[in-house]
Amino acid sequence: MHSVRQWLAEARSVAVLTGAGVSAESGVPTFRDANGLWKQYRVQDLATQSAFARDPKLVWEWYNWRRSVLAEVKPNPGHYALAKLEKRIPKFALITQNVDGLHELAGSRHVLRLHGSIWEVRCIACARQSVDLRVSIPDLPPICECGGLLRPAVVWFGEPLPRDVWRAAEAAVQASDLLLVIGTSAVVYPAAGLAQLAKSSGARVVEINLAKTPITSEIDEFLQGPSGELLPRLIA
Ligand code: OAD
Repeated sequence: MHSVRQWLAEARSVAVLTGAGVSAESGVPTFRDANGLWKQYRVQDLATQSAFARDPKLVWEWYNWRRSVLAEVKPNPGHYALAKLEKRIPKFALITQNVDGLHELAGSRHVLRLHGSIWEVRCIACARQSVDLRVSIPDLPPICECGGLLRPAVVWFGEPLPRDVWRAAEAAVQASDLLLVIGTSAVVYPAAGLAQLAKSSGARVVEINLAKTPITSEIDEFLQGPSGELLPRLIA
């Protein structure tokens, strides 16, 4: 913890990669931990184009459930600590795999959303995208004005990340002195590859997680514990 504080104090450019774990203490279920299942489905069985093509209503029921969970939760001290850090570091990028919007609610300004937002929908026919903040979308599956099916505007397995966002994330990591990887199982690529990119660009990498992950052995420091407790201590 002491050396990470020192690195943060010296850093001119910091990148942060967050995953579902950073929102866990807000009460948002993660994807791969025991509490991550909805009914009997695994995330890999729902967050795909083929699942949506097979049963759009089922996939939307899952998103409605996630919307209802997210509508009740608030950012936690980990989110707030990252918003505070952004104000202190000259060059700062927060890269998130989360679609929940909690970083923005906590006051983070420069957020690169690799996986989109659960609060937006997109037509699979005309590609029109719009914000939809309703806690529960009625009459599933919802239909666009053009008659096409609306889907959540998030990135599913097998889909490419939004190109501009990904490029900005790569550039931020390459320019950083320090990358913090927080609350992600680091198994979903390409996001998980950002830690290797940071190392090969000469940045230090620090991981905060409850448990070790595939990248833990390759990084500079592993801080084990809940991000909602460790981040405020680190950034105080
Ligand atoms: P996962 O559910 O795979 O991993 C959550 C990670 O957070 C695990 O490594 C936990 O150990 C850790 N964790 C849980 N609680 C924590 C806490 N309080 N403090 C710190 N760490 C904690 O979630 P992601 O890695 O975000 O993508 O998953 C990556 C992507 O896979 C998601 O964006 C989503 C998912 O499928 C798509 O839907 C495409």
